[in-house]
Amino acid sequence: MIKPETIQQIFETARIEEVIGDFVTLKKRGSNYLGLCPFHNEKTPSFSVSPSKGIYKCFGCGKAGNAVNFVIEHEHYSYPEALKYVAKKYGIDIEEEELTPEMRQELDERESMFTLNSFVSKYLNNNLLKSEEGKAVALSYLKERDFREATIEKFELGYAIDQWHDYSEHAQKNGYKKEILVKTGLSIDKGKGLIDRFRGRVIFPIHNLTGKVIGFGGRILGSEKSTAKYLNSPESEIYNKSKVLYGIYFAKNAIVKADNCYLVEGYTDVISMHQAGIENVVASSGTSLTVDQIRLIKRYTPNITILFDGDPAGIKASFRGIDLILEQGMNVKIVLFPEGEDPDSYVRSHRSSETETFIKDKAADFITFKTRLLLGETAGDPTAKALLIKEIVHSISVIPDGITRSVYIKECSAVMEVPEQTLVNELNKIFRNRFRKKTDTPRELIEDTVVAPPREEQIEFDPLQMKTHEGDLLRILLLYGDKTILMEVVEEELEQFAEKEVEVKVADYLLDDFLHEQISFEDETYNKILSEYIEIWKQGNLPTQNHFTNHPDPQIVNTVIHLLSSAYQLSENWEKNKIYVKTEDDQLKLVVMAAWMSFKSRLINKQLKEITEEIQKTDKDEADIYLLQQQFFELKKIANQIDRELKRTFTY
Ligand code: CTP
Ligand code: MN
Repeated sequence: MIKPETIQQIFETARIEEVIGDFVTLKKRGSNYLGLCPFHNEKTPSFSVSPSKGIYKCFGCGKAGNAVNFVIEHEHYSYPEALKYVAKKYGIDIEEEELTPEMRQELDERESMFTLNSFVSKYLNNNLLKSEEGKAVALSYLKERDFREATIEKFELGYAIDQWHDYSEHAQKNGYKKEILVKTGLSIDKGKGLIDRFRGRVIFPIHNLTGKVIGFGGRILGSEKSTAKYLNSPESEIYNKSKVLYGIYFAKNAIVKADNCYLVEGYTDVISMHQAGIENVVASSGTSLTVDQIRLIKRYTPNITILFDGDPAGIKASFRGIDLILEQGMNVKIVLFPEGEDPDSYVRSHRSSETETFIKDKAADFITFKTRLLLGETAGDPTAKALLIKEIVHSISVIPDGITRSVYIKECSAVMEVPEQTLVNELNKIFRNRFRKKTDTPRELIEDTVVAPPREEQIEFDPLQMKTHEGDLLRILLLYGDKTILMEVVEEELEQFAEKEVEVKVADYLLDDFLHEQISFEDETYNKILSEYIEIWKQGNLPTQNHFTNHPDPQIVNTVIHLLSSAYQLSENWEKNKIYVKTEDDQLKLVVMAAWMSFKSRLINKQLKEITEEIQKTDKDEADIYLLQQQFFELKKIANQIDRELKRTFTY
């Protein structure tokens, strides 16, 4: 645990424009900086950084936060990791607090798994380079495959000795716990002791985005067919196969630079291409592509080029992956390698420049690719050709952008020699079906859900509007909580006060009522912010804006930044409601009261709606209904009063 004082020091020292400037090119615009948002694709900059507030906000995609949040979002770090990163940048020593045993255990399980993986990875790497067995069988094998030592070093390749308990025992001797060895999947618990999962294999550590080892792949030496060629770590708390791509840590910068990502099938394809100087490569590791993996790439580029091995068997199965990429609005090109070759073998038998040229020349869009691949099968068979066309139009239909769709329709029409209109009709048919699927409800269901007509008037309650009012109140608390307003003293309390008007702090005025009426907010994050605000207020203080913009919970940071940056909406509302006031103090009082009353009015409407629903329940007896109706009328009276008051206050 990092000490709160240290965290505060980090926030005070960090200059947000410098932290973000390491990742994004920022240009000064007035008192702020502006750049291209790293979280979504854009051509004109809408990513704004405010040095004075210490926050960033993208007006395009809505992402917002402080310097530490930025590092979390951008580098996929945890909160402590991001704090440490920023601390290091500014030479701040991290003082960590002693952990309680429970905290340590909870916090450290993932951390221990990472540490163990790193330890074992280094050990296996040492086996490969230094041990007799490793050098004799594994290093020689990798050298035969033209892997240079620098490459082996970079990818931390290793070798697992061909024995039952080698690294499991070594790790335990060095203080690593049995449970963690099992949790990472490195070892298997057979009751009497731990067995090494990987034995007599070359090891490929799998790194996450930040370069930590999260799992392993192990390849047999040579080409015997008796066991699986590759064995991989099972899924674990830190290794989720569908969310990671092999090589992404080493490739991310090159992907940004090339504005393209090569997607290959295997570990060795990635490594050989790297060795040849082509570094924008990642592998799906033999499994079918997932949406999470595609989004991972999309963070760095909208362009993917799939490099397929030259055996067509698996390719048809991967059509779904192509559709998934199109669905994400990304551009996909496909390259098919010659029969019997994969990127690894190709790049080893050609110069890098030849490989690049080959890829450039052969890269086809998905229509050309599918057509080339399937047209042979459909020659002279009209039914098969029709099916192929339908399949291509289906792929086109998943593309989110209309212009891109019509470009592809044109191309398909040319390639397949089918009139464009026919394809457009087919496309429309798909859209109509999709729409119907979404909206059609079977008749039985409709009849089932018919409810008795309401016995009371229908009350409107709009949760969205509720949220707006909640936001208004929070914004007022954050911006003006410490300001005072002059309030009239009500008649019954006149004796207590000498004056007819008293000064009240805005926070006190609002929060007294909140506590008194036990009010909470509908919106979960708003409610968290409110509760924290109230807690601090109860201790006689008021939280600063920084308290929330530097908050450990990124949801809170984001929400507060949005609330504060839409502050101008308040004054817009006044103009819309024709509120004209003489002084700023008058104005503040009106704003506070308007926000409070609008919120109250919504809140009561919500309660009225709940009562109506309660009344409609069939299991209520007459007495219950009578009581509920009484409550209803009481509330309704208050609601009308508030509405009258609102009208009176805001139309002079
Ligand atoms: N794979 C796997 N388990 C297997 C076979 C393959 O997990 N039994 C995964 C591996 O990630 C492998 C990828 O699928 O890298 C592609 O398989 P393949 O093309 O057969 O292997 P290569 O990567 O070409 O490996 P090599 O060149 O060493 O034969
Ligand atoms: Mn291969």
